[in-house]
Amino acid sequence: MNRRAVVALASLVLALAPGGVRPQERSHWTIGMSQCNLGEPWRVQMNADIRKAAEAHPELTVIFKDAQNDNLRQVAHMEEFIRAGVNLIIISPKEAAPLTRVVSDAYGRGIPVIVLDRAVLGDRYTCFIGANNKKIGKAAGRWIVKFLGGKGNVVELKGLMTSIPGQDRNSGFREGIKGSAIDVVFEADMKWLEPNARKEMESALARFPHIDLVYGHNDPAAHGAYLAAKAAGRAGEMAFVGIDGLPQEGQMYVRQGVLSACFEYPTGGREAIETALAILAGKSVPKQITLPSRVYTKENIDKGGEWLPE
Ligand code: FRU
Repeated sequence: MNRRAVVALASLVLALAPGGVRPQERSHWTIGMSQCNLGEPWRVQMNADIRKAAEAHPELTVIFKDAQNDNLRQVAHMEEFIRAGVNLIIISPKEAAPLTRVVSDAYGRGIPVIVLDRAVLGDRYTCFIGANNKKIGKAAGRWIVKFLGGKGNVVELKGLMTSIPGQDRNSGFREGIKGSAIDVVFEADMKWLEPNARKEMESALARFPHIDLVYGHNDPAAHGAYLAAKAAGRAGEMAFVGIDGLPQEGQMYVRQGVLSACFEYPTGGREAIETALAILAGKSVPKQITLPSRVYTKENIDKGGEWLPE
């Protein structure tokens, strides 16, 4: 086969590969970004990180959709992107199971899909980008064991347990406290939302006269719990630990002394755009990109936190 034929064949293979890039001579790319909701500061930050990274590349246009915490609406947004023939999709799904089919559909039609932060089921997508929630949960568990001297009553306010980060932040934490005398006296699913966390914490406070620490699966949860404890005049009796670590949220709470520790959960917005550019340029990218995470405490926050070990 001559060189030309080989190139033509290679292009055809690429064009037909699910989730691969159609080799088009293009100077402009449209990316659809399906965000599950913009109710929390962390997601607003993710979109801002994507927008900022994309702005440095005039050849990119990003269309943002906000599903307002509704799986069906997010499926509809994905279908709109598929119909519109965008060149690539970034999705941060609300829940794994309900979004899996439409992600797989887009991928099967040859649209590269980057799944960001919350995973879907199976492997029918181009690339997953996110931090390791199991590792973060485990590090939080270990940190809490040390902080409490190996024993105490803990309240766990869990993220949406039908999303993978909620499941992993729970199982990692349980692994981290294994073998200690930490007693999880109360646990509830606050679905990632501060008002739910506050309400659940009111129940915990009413039932348990002695609470040493609240582990929130995100900073809004830890902060909601703090507000409930403060309103009950009991904030001083316990410590609060959260996850996300935005400068204007978790890091600020650590500086204020509201949170004793906060674990960083990077948004991955910049990395999503870098990966999108690589895919659109026809380069191969890893199936999974795991982002590093730090812990912030009042001792280390001025030095920029401390990286969790690999
Ligand atoms: C925002 C959020 C973050 C959390 C992430 C997990 O919706 O709840 O606080 O870290 O989603 O997917």
